[in-house]
Amino acid sequence: MDKLHILQEKINQAKLGGGQNRIDSQHKKGKLTARERVELLMDEGSFEEIGMLVTHRSKDFGMEKEQYLGDGVVTGYGTVNGRLVYIFSQDFTVFGGSLSETHAEKICKIMDLAMQNGAPVIGLNDSGGARIQEGVVSLGGYADIFYKNVQASGVVPQLSAIMGPCAGGAVYSPAITDFILMVEHTSYMFVTGPNVVKTVTHETVTSEELGGAHTHASKSGVTHFACENEIACIEHIKQLLSYMPQNCEEDAPVYPYESGNEIRTALNDIIPANPNQPYDMKEVIAEIADADSFLEVHKDYAENIVVGFARIAGRSIGIVANQPASMAGVLDINSSKKGARFVRFCDAFNIPLLVLVDVPGFLPGTDQEWNGIITNGAKLLFALSEATVPKVTVITRKAYGGAYDVMNSKHIGADLNYAWPTAEIAVMGAKGAAEIIFKKEIADAEDHDAKWKEKELEYTDKFANPYGAAARGFIDEVILPDVTREKLIKAFKMLEHKVAKMPKKKHDNIPL
Ligand code: HXC
Repeated sequence: MDKLHILQEKINQAKLGGGQNRIDSQHKKGKLTARERVELLMDEGSFEEIGMLVTHRSKDFGMEKEQYLGDGVVTGYGTVNGRLVYIFSQDFTVFGGSLSETHAEKICKIMDLAMQNGAPVIGLNDSGGARIQEGVVSLGGYADIFYKNVQASGVVPQLSAIMGPCAGGAVYSPAITDFILMVEHTSYMFVTGPNVVKTVTHETVTSEELGGAHTHASKSGVTHFACENEIACIEHIKQLLSYMPQNCEEDAPVYPYESGNEIRTALNDIIPANPNQPYDMKEVIAEIADADSFLEVHKDYAENIVVGFARIAGRSIGIVANQPASMAGVLDINSSKKGARFVRFCDAFNIPLLVLVDVPGFLPGTDQEWNGIITNGAKLLFALSEATVPKVTVITRKAYGGAYDVMNSKHIGADLNYAWPTAEIAVMGAKGAAEIIFKKEIADAEDHDAKWKEKELEYTDKFANPYGAAARGFIDEVILPDVTREKLIKAFKMLEHKVAKMPKKKHDNIPL
């Protein structure tokens, strides 16, 4: 065989991974192969593979006789919608996609390139974990990846799609990256599987219940997206990337949008007459953002806060919004953590923030206090305070107590704060306030309830409006709801070149 044929032979062999039988069995499970996934994600013809001929170095357990070119991971670079990305895609047909020393080296190599060249890293995970035959060498490989993930954090966006098993310490690389996407029914993530759980805690649980996409999207919040199938997952990755810059020194791409009709009269009727009646904040977002531009993150987790990317006049923004339609939009432990994590991503990657406020306060109760609402609520406060990107707030209705301060108030560095005429900005709700400050008058009155009602109305008249805050300059402008989009377009344009710096420090110490 001549030398050119030898190369072609090797390429053909590498492309077959663990062989046709294993490829067939992958397909039978409803899964694509590592290479099919790369092809679907990357622009046609743009993928360039690196390390196709790498093989493992293991000599134990007869491994020297079992060699597969590429060693269970396809790595390289290419473009997604014309923009450079680096990728690794684990090949389950080769030793179950398990991670060997060389497999880890390949991943680290492309992460180095990504950091040096300022482009996102996408990991398509489908792996049985550490290559058992290699022992500690494989554990070292994982730790090398974790270390690189941390180095890359905040430098380039890192996305992890889970498209098969992901167990043991292997879950920690995705956990360190910016976003996790899971595929329903074919992927799972857990530190210890159902068998270990059964032995240690005597709980009987399936893999799906313990660590499937639905579980992590709704219960634990580990995954940001649960996708119906692999194709949907890959589409989500593409969409997600469209809101992000290539690295921390760039801005996100600007997209065309339909300009002209910026007045949204539907917003004038969105707040119910009864202040205790819910409405859906996502309807507000749909009116404010460019048409169909909202991509919700963590949709099924801590639904009392809504976070996600959108565009305003073609530019990416991150939205954090209380959701009155879920638990009255109250802030609790999970919603604070969810909001804080999202804010920090946006700030790291120069994505301006829009905060929509309708919050009755922090959730009271032993459950919240004993699980640390103090430390956890402080996360959102900290994240918004430290963010130096343009920050704009719109108070649609309630902004009570500490939650007023936390939700991007002027005091913690917001650039522009708007309120609708329906805003209620006060230390607490009128009923509770009246009970405390007019306690004696209510007790002395002949008709306690009537007096209480009278005092409640007095407090409402005085404080349950935006004008006290506007008089102080805490609110820059009270606006009619219908002009909100127009105001925001102008505001974000005005803030486009904002420069704000934090005092010099090694790094801050967010309350974890
Ligand atoms: C080497 C592995 C492997 C592994 C699977 N294979 N996992 N080879 N090391 N970790 C191989 C199998 O031998 C098999 O080879 C092929 O991959 C497919 O595996 P199956 O078991 O046939 O597939 P399936 O039934 O789909 O089950 C997949 C699985 C199971 C659930 C992932 O294989 C499994 O439980 N594997 C072990 C998982 C594990 O304990 N990993 C170590 C975790 S500790 P053939 O030749 O038959 O195709 C860890 C530490 C990381 O990861 C620490 C980081 C800090």
